[in-house]
Amino acid sequence: MSTPSLLILAGDGIGPEVMGEVKKIIAWFDDKRGLKFDISEDLVGGAAYDAHGTPLTDETMAKAQEVDAVLLGAVGGPAYDDLDFSVKPERGLLRLRKEMDLFANLRPAQCFDALADFSSLKPELISGLDIMIVRELTSGVYFGEPRGIFEENGERVGLNTQRYTESEIDRVARAAFELARKRNNRLCSMEKANVMESGILWREVVTKIGAEDYPDVELSHMYADNGAMQLVRNPKQFDVIVTDNLFGDILSDVAAMLTGSLGMLPSASLGVPMANGMPKAMYEPVHGSAPDITGQGKANPSATILSFAMALRYSYGQGAEADRLEAAVEKVLADGTRTADLMQKGEGTPASTTEMGDAIVAALTASL
Ligand code: IPM
Ligand code: MG
Repeated sequence: MSTPSLLILAGDGIGPEVMGEVKKIIAWFDDKRGLKFDISEDLVGGAAYDAHGTPLTDETMAKAQEVDAVLLGAVGGPAYDDLDFSVKPERGLLRLRKEMDLFANLRPAQCFDALADFSSLKPELISGLDIMIVRELTSGVYFGEPRGIFEENGERVGLNTQRYTESEIDRVARAAFELARKRNNRLCSMEKANVMESGILWREVVTKIGAEDYPDVELSHMYADNGAMQLVRNPKQFDVIVTDNLFGDILSDVAAMLTGSLGMLPSASLGVPMANGMPKAMYEPVHGSAPDITGQGKANPSATILSFAMALRYSYGQGAEADRLEAAVEKVLADGTRTADLMQKGEGTPASTTEMGDAIVAALTASL
């Protein structure tokens, strides 16, 4: 078997800083566990725009199609706010998702015991929380045509189209049902079937798949607005949630904040299986490029490190090593090492990005 490949796209803002810590983790797995990776690095987002005038070159896109997995840091920043829409940093990310056909975006929202007090909700509502949001990632209003800004009756009109085909709903629903089976066997599908035809179709397709192929999975449906409310009211009622691209964008931010810190949450975006049977995949933290703290050594590298753990599990067939890495992050938190985002004001001196990374490496070594 050839050495598994990984393309690192650190991107903008805190992306390169947090990726530096992931590289230490990768080096540890090479050194101590004999896991070799064929690593390449490239630019995405504003960094790619600065170098090449585009947020993602065709060469980088082609490389992403070839590797076993892509690990992305973050894209965007105020320096790029005024760029034309077609070359904004986010377009690079969206092109990767679309052209790699990464239709199933897995966003776990898990509460680490050591951080239960950190949520804006009461600890009893979120301690032990473990939700998986499966967001459709390659269709819906993010990509639907027609779109644009047009002139009509002497004024401008902004237009986007929410559009879902049966097969697009079918494949993401199946991914969610499969995950539910591996977890607590409950799936809640969210749409707005009360106002949107795409929601009516979504509900029909999900219901049919559930009845025909997953009768063992307990399926429920919610309107997405109620779902947002229920996530804040009583999040532990959920196991797996499946929803469309735009609702998933919003609901996953809500779910993320329940856990206390965006700085802790990884994600996996999975597509169809490649020749080796593993899905095409890109891994990225849920947080953004955090321009307000860029270059200050304050960023929490955990979400990107945990994204690499998801890569170990879903792309490299190393579930036990993924467990080891997740346990190491949990141990560091339990021992009290915290980056600034995990501390209340006046709570002491926060760990820097590199200190957090070093602590996780030390916890890995202690796990041997
Ligand atoms: C996300 C982000 C992206 C999205 C942006 C950066 C394009 O918010 O991954 O949730 O809207 O999908
Ligand atoms: Mg988002």
